[in-house]
Amino acid sequence: MTRATWRTRVGFVLAAVGSAVGLGNIWRFPWLTAQNGGGAFLLLYLLVVVLVGVPGLLGEMVIGRRSGRNPVGAFGTLGGDRWRPLGGLALFASVVVLSFYSVVGGWILRYTVASATGAYFPAPQEYFAAIDYGVGAAGFHALFLLATAAVVYVGVDRGIEVATTVMVPGIVLMLGGLAVWAGTLDGATGGYEFYLSLDLAYLRANFFDVLGAAAGQALFTLSVGAGAMLTYASYLGEDRSLAADGTLIAGLNTGIGVLAGLVIFPLLFSLGVDPGAGGPGALFISLAGAFASLPYSRLVGIAFFGVVLLAALSSSISIYEVLVSYLVDEHGASRGGATAAVGTLFLVTGTGAALSPSLFTLLADTIANLALTAGLLGFLLFDGWVLGRLALEEYELGAGRIATLAGRPWFVAIAVILPLFLAFTFVTGIGGVVGVTPTAGQSSAIAVAVVGGCIALFSRRSRA
Ligand code: PHE
Repeated sequence: MTRATWRTRVGFVLAAVGSAVGLGNIWRFPWLTAQNGGGAFLLLYLLVVVLVGVPGLLGEMVIGRRSGRNPVGAFGTLGGDRWRPLGGLALFASVVVLSFYSVVGGWILRYTVASATGAYFPAPQEYFAAIDYGVGAAGFHALFLLATAAVVYVGVDRGIEVATTVMVPGIVLMLGGLAVWAGTLDGATGGYEFYLSLDLAYLRANFFDVLGAAAGQALFTLSVGAGAMLTYASYLGEDRSLAADGTLIAGLNTGIGVLAGLVIFPLLFSLGVDPGAGGPGALFISLAGAFASLPYSRLVGIAFFGVVLLAALSSSISIYEVLVSYLVDEHGASRGGATAAVGTLFLVTGTGAALSPSLFTLLADTIANLALTAGLLGFLLFDGWVLGRLALEEYELGAGRIATLAGRPWFVAIAVILPLFLAFTFVTGIGGVVGVTPTAGQSSAIAVAVVGGCIALFSRRSRA
């Protein structure tokens, strides 16, 4: 059976934007921004997206398009069988991300429905506390998973491409409408000021914390490190400019993320809610609760949670597809069989996260960041030290003049500079998990040692 390909370039770009735009932009980004000093975080985040996210995304897509395979098959095809475990890392990251993602997707689904009846309006805090974990949460998680599976089952071009081509423009239109509306509320300017003002003193005092949060968020929001973009790029039929597509994808994702902030912060400020309060529950407690005091509150709730639901679905589809493509490519499974098997797996892991708050937080807060960072680190070292010249060649296929000029600097960045940066944030992140905070100097030293060791290992193994 021939492998599926995207029907159009726009279809590919929209599917990838759909993967990127999701809960990361609307749920995770605002509370991280609020927690990390507002505009200071926004600034660092934008820098990391441009300097690390985009080149990293290209490094991941190069592997997918070159191999035309799922992550495990890709490393096996390009580097030989001993590289297949590197793809296993991507599968692991996918499982981690979707296991908690679909639980949040379930919350969103529930809030979309509950907006119609106004169920959470009278006591938002109590409502969220009653539904966040438990059997009900597991049930809504399963429904969200089912919707994801339905699209994936139909296939890459007829399912994913068609669905995301409708969803992504819908998300942009609805968010745009909500942003305009939010700007008309009294007190909205306080929100813009908080969001866009730069507190340099805060940034200086908390630089490494803010940097770590910004880096994790940049990878998460671009869907990098879990093999989703690798897999999507593997369905590219002809060689068009990856650099152009990747830049466009990242640009649209960032624009939509900033737009989401322009909805959420004016809303919160006009309603007198402290954006720093609430953490991961902020969207569901402060924001949702505040809807009650607005005219047409039910309609506002449905529109808001509806758009978040679309965004979440178009992302979960891309993670689900990573595992389906693996079973289809490597084990000769039918698409239906693979979809069912992957669904069963996530039913189990997601139910675990829906029943256990501590498991959920562990996955969402720490393991996801670490897994994505490790995944991307592996991809980029593979590009730089195993594929080497071939990676650059693949990048240059279909690239225009400017992109070609940027090729060599890109290659140096992904082979050396980005790995150092990723290893640094990985070490700092691990430190946070085990409860020791290494100094910046210690983290840098460990990062240099790790990357140096990997380079020695990778270049020897590829010659052997
Ligand atoms: N980018 C998605 C979001 O922002 C999440 C995601 C992470 C999707 C990793 C795929 C892989 O919601």
